[in-house]
Order: sequence, then structure tokens, then C-alpha cells
Amino acid sequence: MDNNLLLEALKGSPVERPPVWMMRQAGRYLPDFMKLKEKYDFFTRCQTPELATEITLMPIEQIGVDAAIIFSDILVVLQAMNIEVEMRDGKGPYLPSPIKDKASLDKSIIPDVREHLGYVFESVKMIKKELSSRVPLIGFAGAPWTLLCYAVQGQGSKNFDRAKAFCYQHPELAKELLQKITTTTIAYLREKVKAGADVIQLFDSWGGLLTPVDYQVFSWPYLQQIIDALGDSVPVIIFGKGCWFALQEMGKSGAAALGIDWTCSARNARYLSGGQITLQGNFDPSKLLSPIPEIKVQVKQMINEFGKDRYIVNLGHGILPNIPVDHAKAFVDAVKEYQS
Ligand code: CP3
Repeated sequence: MDNNLLLEALKGSPVERPPVWMMRQAGRYLPDFMKLKEKYDFFTRCQTPELATEITLMPIEQIGVDAAIIFSDILVVLQAMNIEVEMRDGKGPYLPSPIKDKASLDKSIIPDVREHLGYVFESVKMIKKELSSRVPLIGFAGAPWTLLCYAVQGQGSKNFDRAKAFCYQHPELAKELLQKITTTTIAYLREKVKAGADVIQLFDSWGGLLTPVDYQVFSWPYLQQIIDALGDSVPVIIFGKGCWFALQEMGKSGAAALGIDWTCSARNARYLSGGQITLQGNFDPSKLLSPIPEIKVQVKQMINEFGKDRYIVNLGHGILPNIPVDHAKAFVDAVKEYQS
């Protein structure tokens, strides 16, 4: 690998400067992405390896990040499980037949991932070839809890109230669904690693909606199963938004790194996670709207707070669509200019 920074940081080895990439970097703030979006709908972009490859490489070439993340979505796993998902423009995901009872749960399947998600593995192979060892490739999946949120709620939501009600009213059905998603995700990620993904990130975007006690019931055990199943085959990054309360558990899980959002300070994150594990984050995505000189000052400050080692510079959640490209680039440049 020409640029080994991410893999070194994940191992905990000392680095010259920390690696940098941005969650949702392959997306809507890039003018070239918007051009493709006019021509092809969302899942066509995901399902066509040539398009997924082109989009994945955009931020490598235009912003200069230290890692690629495959252009896809966490919801493709639900589609493979026979749960229909549409992407509505301006509205986001829409599931016409959400899971609400035993009958609808029984319609979901544990698929043969090579048959239903083969296009993802084809994309991974094509991207690896195009990257030709420039930077590592991150593969990803949603946490089972975050996928349950969409499968039951049927669309995005501020509080995922229907999904939570389902768990509290039918905990046995919820656990059956979580296990089906987990089993599918393990098979899916094993194939992704076989196809060439160098790192896996698990997104628990809605983990922070649960109480710390419920997180241990409905989210954490399933993430731990996935980490255990992947074993030493690949470094795993766990990003649980709002999940500061679980950092202690996560620090002992076998994961290589933990994603932190901007509501948790570097100091608290180091303390809660046990002080040894690599951390990733946590720039407030809205702060990329600050003037460029201010972005640079704040990035330097953030690196000083986390420390240059055992640290991966990132945002605390996905990049927003209204971020000017030169501001995204300034964020990355600030890391490259970093001197302790
Ligand atoms: O990081 C990357 O750039 C790789 C691609 C990627 C996408 N989605 C592309 C996408 C990744 C890693 C995801 C993960 C994802 N998808 C998550 C977890 C991360 C997070 O931000 O919390 C979640 C919750 C989803 C579900 C999802 N997909 C939503 C809620 C939406 C609509 C709102 C939005 O963020 O745009 C999507 C659509 C989606 N996924 C888009 C992109 C680029 C935009 C729609 C489009 O381009 O037509």
C-alpha cells in the first residue's frame, strides 16, 4: 500500500501524522457526483460497479483523503433480505412494507449474499484494481439495530418511535429480526473482505437513541457477534453515534478503532474507551461551514486533543450536502500540514 497511514493507525503504530477520511465522503457535496445523480437513480449507482467505482474514487482524486470508502448504502442488506427499500429524492429511504408482526418478519429471508449482493463484491474488486494500492479501501455495513430502525419504522425519523415500540412490545420478534440481520451481515462482510476490503466500518447511526441498558439488549450483542465473526481477518471500526455510554464495552470488544461524535470530548472518549484503542472523529460536520482559516485552526486543535497516534481524523457524522468542496479540502489539507 502506497499510503499506509490508516492501517498503521488502526494497528496503533506511531505515525508521522494521523490519517484522514470523511464519513459520507463519496457524495452529495461533490459536483461530479451531482451530475451522475441526474442520470442514474440511487440504487442503479449502487448496483453498477463502474458507477460505484467512479464515485468511490472521486474524493481520493479531488479531496486527497487517505482512504476510500465504497459507494453503496447500509440498506442494501435489507433489500437482499427481501425487504423492499426505495430511495426517494429529498426524502431519503422509504420502505413500502415495513416489518410490524410475525407474518411480515417471516417474509424476510437470510439470503445467499453472493447471489443477492454480488454486485457489491464486483464493485470492491473493481475499486481495488482502480486504486492500485494508492490508499486502503473501507467496506461497511449498518449495525443490526440501525437496520432494524429502518426495517420497522419504514423511513427516516428523529426518534424512530415505531421501531422502539416494536422492540418494547415484541422483544422476541425484535431479537429474531436482529439475529437474521446479524447472520446476513456476517456473511456479507466476509465476502466483502474476500473481495478485497482492507478495513470494515460498522455504522450504528441510531444507537444513541437507546438507553444504555437497552443498548446492551438490542444493539451491542449483535455488533459483538459481527466483530467476533470477522476475527483477525480485517480491522473493524465501530461508529456508534451518541453511544459514548458504551465506549468502555466497545474498547474491550476486539474492534481496532471506535468512532466518536462531536458531543464527546477527546479526553472523555480516551478515558471511557480505556486509553489504548485507536479513536476516530469527531469534527462537527456543520463546522465545515466556518471560514477556511478557522477550519484549519480547529483541526489542529482537535489533533492536539486526541494526540497524533492511535487517532484517525474524521467528522463526527457524515459530511453535509451544502459543504463547499474547498472547505472539505481545507479540512484534509490541515491534517496533511499538521506538525506536532
Ligand atoms: O461514506 C460514503 O460516502 C459511502 C457511501 C455511503 C452512503 N450511505 C451513500 C448514500 C455510506 C457509508 C452510507 C451509510 C448510511 N446510509 C448510513 C450510516 C451513516 C450515517 O450517515 O448515519 C445511513 C443511516 C444510511 C441510510 C441512508 N441512505 C439515508 C438516511 C439516506 C438519505 C439521506 C442522506 O443522507 O442522503 C441515504 C441515501 C444516500 N446514501 C445518499 C448517499 C450518497 C444520498 C442520496 C442520493 O445520492 O441519491
